[in-house]
Amino acid sequence: MKKIFLLLITLAMMNGLVYSQGKSKESCVTDKCHVSTSSVKFIHGPFAVKDCQTCHQLVPNEKHKFIEIKNSSEICSNCHEPLEMKRVIHGPLQKGNCVACHNPHGSNQQFFLRKGKLSELCLSCHKINPDKKNGHPPVMDGDCTICHQPHTSDNEKLLVQNGNKLCFTCHSDLESEFADAKVIHKPAAEKCLSCHDVHGSDNEFMLAKEIQAQCFTCHDNIKQQVTNAIGKHKAVEEDKKCANCHSPHLSQMPKLLNQEPMSLCLSCHDNKLTSKNPSITNMKNLFEINKNWHGPIREKDCSGCHNPHGGKTDFRLLRWVYPREFYSSFSTEQYELCFKCHQPTLVLEPKTTTLTGFRNGDQNLHFLHVNKKVKGRTCRTCHETHASQKERHIRESVPFGKWELPIYFEKTSDGGKCSPGCHATKEYKRSDITTRQ
Ligand code: HEC
Ligand code: HEC
Ligand code: HEC
Ligand code: HEC
Ligand code: HEC
Ligand code: HEC
Ligand code: HEC
Ligand code: HEC
Ligand code: HEC
Ligand code: HEC
Ligand code: HEC
Ligand code: HEC
Ligand code: HEC
Repeated sequence: MKKIFLLLITLAMMNGLVYSQGKSKESCVTDKCHVSTSSVKFIHGPFAVKDCQTCHQLVPNEKHKFIEIKNSSEICSNCHEPLEMKRVIHGPLQKGNCVACHNPHGSNQQFFLRKGKLSELCLSCHKINPDKKNGHPPVMDGDCTICHQPHTSDNEKLLVQNGNKLCFTCHSDLESEFADAKVIHKPAAEKCLSCHDVHGSDNEFMLAKEIQAQCFTCHDNIKQQVTNAIGKHKAVEEDKKCANCHSPHLSQMPKLLNQEPMSLCLSCHDNKLTSKNPSITNMKNLFEINKNWHGPIREKDCSGCHNPHGGKTDFRLLRWVYPREFYSSFSTEQYELCFKCHQPTLVLEPKTTTLTGFRNGDQNLHFLHVNKKVKGRTCRTCHETHASQKERHIRESVPFGKWELPIYFEKTSDGGKCSPGCHATKEYKRSDITTRQ
């Protein structure tokens, strides 16, 4: 419709129909005047046919002065159907200033735009910096109108689409991932721009803030855990930080984890870390070799004991207190960790026939070894924490200073026998004083 309208005008001009009214007027373009004005690639119809006075009016008596054109849109709508205005109207158009962007005579750009690069045109009025360290490709390419309407739009900020729909016009893979995801991060479903700066950013991944700070804007409890942690986890501080473990958008795993929880931990805690720092155990290997896994680990719940965001103690990111030494003076608080899940009575009663299998008759050998003011043996003396070869997670050996002290534990039908580095072979028999009573 519009095209036909313009075509008719063009034809009319060429046939001198429109132009005929101006016949009496002299043309402004002569050999001497305004010649250069037409040496551009795209020339506007009326200018091409030198119909200067369809837009310009000479000031009477002043041969070479035009009446200033205040509202160019009025001129334009003489020939062009007026642009249909939507809810949001771009500043220059509100003022009728079409020629802020279009050269009414013509230019080297399509649509007679004034600047060669679209972004240069827009940036002549807007202070958007497209040269960020992590720029958004369409913005760096200067393709502003792929997202913004230049004239008018029903959407805020003149956008071509509202909200996340805009992003999905290009990031369509992500859109389909959302459809298939088990767990969706609320802000991602609602507003991509709650984390990303759409025009680019100096932070990684186009985030508005450095990643931790970005997450902390909403997760104050984690901020407290991380900043108040006595034991720090390098995984929170290195590389992708929070995104080492969490997917910020969506996941198939609970808590937006990148992987199944235990595999996540073992994806770093394998030979990679140990080859860099031999004093840190290769956990992946440990679990492969030792098939008898501790209860919570059978549930693949490393976080049951460790806080991945940082420990409340300075020892191994543990959530609760547990002695770091071979010996410790006894108090239940010292074993807060084990007693979160096991009964403390295990080590509190000197005599028992029910509370533990580690007894000689009714003499509680847990009490005997652990419950001492000085040099109480910590649980690690005899038990592996994560996984073991033997039943009851009895260790093969235990680090004692630099020495790997052997345990030599043997299970018997009625108890057990050990020949450890610390004392001669001893045997316990639960039936020594039987419960027959
Ligand atoms: C479609 C309308 C239109 C036509 C046709 C037109 N002009 Fe213009 N012209 C304008 C407008 C609008 C401005 C003011 C532009 C601005 O503010 O930048 C202007 C500005 C000018 C200026 C002063 C600024 C400059 O670009 O140097 C001159 C000189 C000029 N026109 C000459 C001509 C001549 C000569 C012709 C005919 C060959 C012509 N114009 C045809 C709309 C037109
Ligand atoms: C005297 C009639 C006339 C006036 C006044 C006029 N135009 Fe045009 N315009 C045309 C014709 C005819 C065409 C189609 C031929 C061409 O591309 O030059 C056209 C084409 C255009 C195009 C290119 C459209 C396309 O789809 O390629 C733009 C942009 C444009 N005009 C902007 C303006 C602006 C801005 C004004 C006001 C400053 C204006 N025109 C005033 C007659 C006019
Ligand atoms: C802020 C800059 C800007 C202003 C102001 C502006 N335009 Fe445009 N206009 C553009 C751009 C950029 C395009 C190219 C279209 C695109 O890339 O989507 C365009 C395209 C056009 C076209 C051709 C394509 C189409 O959409 O039909 C016409 C006709 C047009 N403008 C007329 C006008 C008129 C009339 C006015 C004033 C009422 C005006 N423009 C004001 C930037 C502007
Ligand atoms: C001649 C100066 C000028 C040019 C050129 C210009 N703009 Fe604007 N733009 C304005 C003014 C004036 C406003 C309204 C003032 C405001 O709200 O900040 C505005 C508003 C906007 C807004 C909405 C801001 C808001 O807060 O709602 C966007 C988006 C925008 N322009 C994008 C563009 C794009 C994209 C281009 C290039 C196609 C462009 N502008 C070219 C002057 C210009
Ligand atoms: C990938 C899409 C996209 C591209 C490309 C893009 N913008 Fe935007 N722009 C947006 C979105 C989305 C907003 C709204 C931001 C918000 O609400 O926080 C916006 C907002 C704006 C605003 C309003 C002021 C502000 O910062 O909120 C201006 C002005 C603007 N853009 C200009 C530009 C210019 C100039 C370009 C080209 C150099 C450009 N935009 C390229 C999507 C884009
Ligand atoms: C016009 C197409 C287009 C639109 C619309 C678009 N993007 Fe992009 N975006 C790209 C391209 C191209 C890349 C680079 C390739 C890639 O990483 O997939 C990219 C990359 C990104 C990146 C990765 C940057 C990095 O450092 O790795 C983020 C984040 C991003 N876009 C967010 C958004 C958001 C948020 C929106 C909506 C507000 C959006 N994009 C809209 C085209 C687009
Ligand atoms: C909670 C903050 C947050 C929100 C909300 C968010 N993102 Fe991201 N986004 C990130 C972080 C952090 C990364 C980098 C982490 C990574 O690569 O694993 C990222 C990476 C990206 C990337 C590049 C890497 C990739 O996965 O392809 C794109 C593209 C992207 N986001 C687009 C989007 C879009 C589109 C939305 C809205 C649907 C969105 N983001 C919402 C935080 C967010
Ligand atoms: C704009 C606010 C906002 C930002 C920024 C934000 N989140 Fe969230 N996050 C939420 C909301 C809201 C929930 C849902 C809480 C609920 O359901 O109780 C949530 C939930 C979560 C969950 C738990 C999901 C579950 O299944 O329980 C994790 C993990 C998470 N966010 C990680 C992150 C990470 C990592 C970042 C930084 C990349 C981040 N968040 C940035 C608002 C935010
Ligand atoms: C080493 C991996 C790892 C890193 C790094 C990590 N997290 Fe987590 N995060 C987890 C695990 C595992 C859980 C689930 C723990 C649980 O169930 O108690 C979790 C849970 C969460 C939750 C949900 C808490 C709740 O109570 O439901 C939020 C929110 C969260 N993390 C945010 C973050 C933020 C923000 C960062 C960056 C400062 C971060 N995480 C870094 C592994 C990690
Ligand atoms: C992105 C890699 C990465 C992931 C994933 C990861 N860690 Fe770590 N972890 C490290 C690094 C690096 C260290 C520091 C090693 C060193 O001291 O050389 C570390 C150290 C530790 C330590 C010893 C801390 C200390 O103070 O001695 C524990 C315990 C630990 N991680 C547990 C976990 C658990 C549990 C998970 C799963 C929830 C996990 N890690 C996931 C990288 C990771
Ligand atoms: C029952 C509680 C508990 C569970 C569950 C647990 N840990 Fe531990 N973890 C500990 C304790 C206690 C230590 C300190 C061991 C010691 O020094 O005797 C430790 C130490 C570590 C260390 C440091 C190892 C070293 O000495 O170099 C890493 C790494 C670690 N755990 C990772 C994990 C991973 C990965 C998981 C899940 C597969 C996990 N832990 C599950 C309690 C637990
Ligand atoms: C998060 C809970 C939890 C914590 C903390 C915990 N355990 Fe366990 N433990 C279990 C579960 C569950 C079993 C398996 C019980 C079963 O199989 O009946 C188990 C089994 C054991 C066994 C073997 C029992 C048997 O019958 O084979 C020993 C030994 C043991 N734990 C020692 C410890 C020590 C030492 C600590 C402290 C370092 C500790 N546990 C911390 C949950 C926990
Ligand atoms: C001197 C070695 C030694 C120490 C120290 C020790 N245990 Fe044991 N524990 C054993 C032996 C041996 C068994 C196996 C008893 C049997 O079944 O014959 C055992 C069994 C267990 C069991 C399985 C249930 C039971 O009592 O039979 C749990 C749970 C347990 N220990 C927890 C702990 C905790 C918690 C600590 C630290 C507070 C600890 N142990 C310290 C040697 C020890």
